Amino acid sequence: MDPDHQEMMDKILAGVDELPPMPEVVIKAQELLANTDSNAKELAALLETDQSIATRVLQISNSAFYGMSGRVSSIQQACLVLGYKNLSEIISVAGVQKSLVKKLPGYGLESEDLWRHSLSVALGSKIIASRKKPELEMVAHTAGLVHDVGKIILDPFVVEAKATFDSFLLEEQQTYLNAEQQILGFDHAEVAAQVCQKWRIPEVISSAIRYHHSPSSSLEVELAFILHMADYISLMSGEGYEDDDYLYELEEGTMNYLAFNQNDISELTFEFMESVANLLDTPN
Ligand SMILES: [Fe+2]
Ligand SMILES: [Fe+2]
Repeated sequence: MDPDHQEMMDKILAGVDELPPMPEVVIKAQELLANTDSNAKELAALLETDQSIATRVLQISNSAFYGMSGRVSSIQQACLVLGYKNLSEIISVAGVQKSLVKKLPGYGLESEDLWRHSLSVALGSKIIASRKKPELEMVAHTAGLVHDVGKIILDPFVVEAKATFDSFLLEEQQTYLNAEQQILGFDHAEVAAQVCQKWRIPEVISSAIRYHHSPSSSLEVELAFILHMADYISLMSGEGYEDDDYLYELEEGTMNYLAFNQNDISELTFEFMESVANLLDTPN
């Protein structure tokens, strides 16, 4: 690796270090949920040690998406009525929300843009997994949630090189992804894999994220294809970033690999839109 490239990589990795850690309570709660002997009381007691996470878990539990609008008043009740699988998903969302609701001036994104897109890809990956490989549902959800976190780390570097980015993007068919690779030497998918390590996210997820724009190069093939398709449908359903969404192309072979046709894409586009709207629709 040439010295310039190495220097840039070191700076980018320092940015990963500065990102807030995954809240400890979230990691412990997921461990508890994976243990079949755990009970609702124990989980509620743990979540209540972190009031901001507990509040977010309650808010999400009351969204229209889980069909409980306004009826969940305690963490213990959420555990009982929503079931461990839904709760595990809600805790992941609550755990990353603070990090992902962020304005990214380099990419021209307002604070809710990355968040909505991440939720859409999480819900979408889960929907696709439930159709194609139900045992991947939970990992697909987490992978979708975190897949673009690398943009948060790269944003200050994009700001620094804004003029170079802007003129690169003006060239025909050039995307932010190409610009990251050409100008910074890394793309946000590579950087996200580093964040996964920091957040103690399983390897199967980080390697799918690493290849979410080029799933055929991945070893965790299935999950990477699911993520790539969910990313594409999310953009089709208006939950993308707008700037270069229209240039996003499915890697060749993706439709075949997942046995999808145009009809599936149109159907899922509506399902994605509805899921995100319902999840964001929380009673006050
Ligand atoms: Fe991406
Ligand atoms: Fe994405």
